[in-house]
Amino acid sequence: MDLSDAHTLGLFLEVYGTLPRAGPGGDEHTGRALGLVPGPTPRTVLDLGCGPAAQTVALAAALPEARILAVDMLPSMAAEANRRFVAAAIDDRVEAVVGDMAAPPVEPGSQDLIWAEGAIYNLGVTEALRTWRPLLAPGGTVGFTEPIWLVDSPPAELRDWWLAEYPALTEEAGVRASIEAASYQTIASFPLPASAWWDEYYEPMQARIAGLKARHPDDPIAAEVVAAAETEIDFFERFSECYSYAFFIVQPTD
Ligand SMILES: C[S@@+](CC[C@H](N)C(=O)[O-])C[C@H]1O[C@@H](n2cnc3c(N)ncnc32)[C@H](O)[C@@H]1O
Repeated sequence: MDLSDAHTLGLFLEVYGTLPRAGPGGDEHTGRALGLVPGPTPRTVLDLGCGPAAQTVALAAALPEARILAVDMLPSMAAEANRRFVAAAIDDRVEAVVGDMAAPPVEPGSQDLIWAEGAIYNLGVTEALRTWRPLLAPGGTVGFTEPIWLVDSPPAELRDWWLAEYPALTEEAGVRASIEAASYQTIASFPLPASAWWDEYYEPMQARIAGLKARHPDDPIAAEVVAAAETEIDFFERFSECYSYAFFIVQPTD
């Protein structure tokens, strides 16, 4: 799917652009992960690949003194994020901008906490952590989610599909090794339950898929978007015990 094509991106966003979250997660998991961040309460927070920013709003509620900058490469996501910040009356200290997580627009040494739910895969764990290291303030922490295998031997059908989608998919120990390769240590980690995929992601996605089908019955690109989303949901329905996302709370070792 070529998301650089405006028509394709428009159809893609009809499914993925208006979901409560643009990936597996939930406020309770964001809150649990934030509670595992060591040291003083963070006051400067960078949320990379923020999407529609449900987790940014949760972070802001838990950190009432913090200034938060949310970054997404898609203007429509940054706009949706800013709408939510106004609705939550936090726009005096929380802002979304269009930008690249490979070059976040903040000063070196300025961030107490860098957050990336369902987004670090865009750079890869080791490269992202190395890239973000200079941005962290002393004692700073990175919190992120990353897909993991929950079983040693997933069914071949599932493994082949995942490895075509995301060849870097590994088990928790593999993610920990990628963290160490970037000269960080894992402070805490925990997997997300299946409910974190359904409640704010796949259940509302099913309604978006139905809407896209009804609005564009003869569009081959819409059919492609629908097929990809339905395949993803179908795999999770059949094999949710085999994979999930996990949260990782990490700090540099140097
Ligand atoms: C799977 S979504 C997760 C969004 C959000 N964190 C959530 O959990 O709902 C990944 C987001 O990363 C954004 N993204 C992808 N590559 C990026 C990049 N290089 N810089 C900034 N954002 C990026 C996408 O536009 C998308 O909104």
